[in-house]
Amino acid sequence: MHTATEERLIRPARNVSGSLRLPGDKSISHRYAMLGAFAEGTSRFTNFSTGADCASTLACMEALGAKVNRLGNDAVEVTGVAGCVTPSNSPLDCGNSGSTMRMISGLLAPQQGSFTLIGDASLSRRPMERIRKPLEAMGAKLTLTEGHAPLTIEGTRLKAIDYTTPVPSAQVKTSILLAGLQTEGATTVREAVRTRDHSELALRAFGASLTRTVDSVSISGPQTLHAIEATVPGDLSSAAFFLCAAALFPGANLVLDSLGLNPTRAALLDVLTSLGAKIGVLHLEEKNAELVGTVQVSAPKDGLGTTEVSGALAAQLIDELPVLAAIAPYTSGGIRIRDAKELRVKESDRIALVARNLRAMGAEVAEFEDGLDVPGGQTLHGATIDSGGDHRIAMAFSVAALRADGDTLIQGAESAAISFPEFFDLLDLVAER
Ligand code: S3P
Repeated sequence: MHTATEERLIRPARNVSGSLRLPGDKSISHRYAMLGAFAEGTSRFTNFSTGADCASTLACMEALGAKVNRLGNDAVEVTGVAGCVTPSNSPLDCGNSGSTMRMISGLLAPQQGSFTLIGDASLSRRPMERIRKPLEAMGAKLTLTEGHAPLTIEGTRLKAIDYTTPVPSAQVKTSILLAGLQTEGATTVREAVRTRDHSELALRAFGASLTRTVDSVSISGPQTLHAIEATVPGDLSSAAFFLCAAALFPGANLVLDSLGLNPTRAALLDVLTSLGAKIGVLHLEEKNAELVGTVQVSAPKDGLGTTEVSGALAAQLIDELPVLAAIAPYTSGGIRIRDAKELRVKESDRIALVARNLRAMGAEVAEFEDGLDVPGGQTLHGATIDSGGDHRIAMAFSVAALRADGDTLIQGAESAAISFPEFFDLLDLVAER
């Protein structure tokens, strides 16, 4: 059971404006940490994610024999194990991080030795069958606890497979690719919706070769990875809170620089545009195959319009849906979200928690198994918000609170540090009161 330890009072704002540079992308930081720790040589990463999730990945990789040297708050040097990890005597603690657990499982399945992976209460409830199935098809020995963590892996030689993911998941795709990297023959992952491709780009940056088609990626193993130096782009999923906050205020003008703009992550920009926000992208460049740029956002004078998120878009926007739903009452025509059942198995049941917290603020909302209908044109009042220990819920409702009548109390506010420890300080910086 989660116990809330920190409360934050969010006062309404008059406007949102300013210029920010955001900490490194969580998804990319996980991958750089894992690949750097597995590679030959010493990698150096700057603007590395400051979130607790990526610290969990670094700690696991350190326990597996990599050398991790923190060079300050957001820079880290990682000396890799050159393809051969050391089994750890104690369980590998993945904390709150599903990415850590699912991706490391694929990395470890073909290694020698026995490994146990554990996580916190939230992670121990999340589905792990989705990695067990493909990894077992490759010959891996994986034991779950009623479909969940703790999970144990008895490392063994694997065989290549051709696998179609039943649910779009970049974590599952990555898990299979990391096993395939170490397995003779071509391992192929096919997906109906192209999920974030940071693993493919990072594997190439570390020297691996893989082939891609519109809906598949293949890796032929075994291959060796080589250390890199990289600056992690700013996290677009963290930026989402600020972009949505700015979109609520007709006088807003917010600039976010060095932001990751990988097309498989940037659907939010299109959705905000369809709601009427003005989004400008400047200084676009490529760093280690990842697109990075400056984003400027301003809001429509007569308020946000209406939109629907369903089908492939729901999968591409999955981490940004809580904040979109949280600002939906302030749009004129509301926001309809469908095909987002995956939200129920994230760090919390995000559909249920978003609905409950919107209602606590006085909003009308209809909840479905796979989404939400949030009507527009509503006035919200300040309320006590239960974040459920989920970082994205805590931050989403801090944004909704900016336009509410009265103050809002966010319970479990410390959870923001899972992905974005600087969130409340930066919000104070750009929210004009
Ligand atoms: C992630 C993939 C997504 C996303 C998560 C990070 C990743 O999860 O929700 O926050 O870094 O690969 P799924 O793979 O479960 O869709």
